[in-house]
Amino acid sequence: MATVRCDGHEVEAVVGRDLLGLMLDAGVPMRYICMAGSCGTCRVRVLSGGEHLLPMNRSEQMHQPTSTGEVRLACQAVVLGTGDVTITQE
Ligand code: FES
Repeated sequence: MATVRCDGHEVEAVVGRDLLGLMLDAGVPMRYICMAGSCGTCRVRVLSGGEHLLPMNRSEQMHQPTSTGEVRLACQAVVLGTGDVTITQE
């Protein structure tokens, strides 16, 4: 079973779910406002396993011009379920 870890919490990596939804459903406190890729409040740093997330969409690219994939919007980053992902809120 693939997992998503964030600041001491661990949840199952459900295929097709966004990181923010996964964490909130598990009761993990996360910063967010819009849940739509606009505000940037849900920004997280990917510490490992970024290859197990769908590539950044247009909303994420607008918030991160470098496109390195290290920083993602949790409400837009979709889990592939192919391996473990570790993130941290900044
Ligand atoms: S909550 Fe606003 S961009 Fe994710």
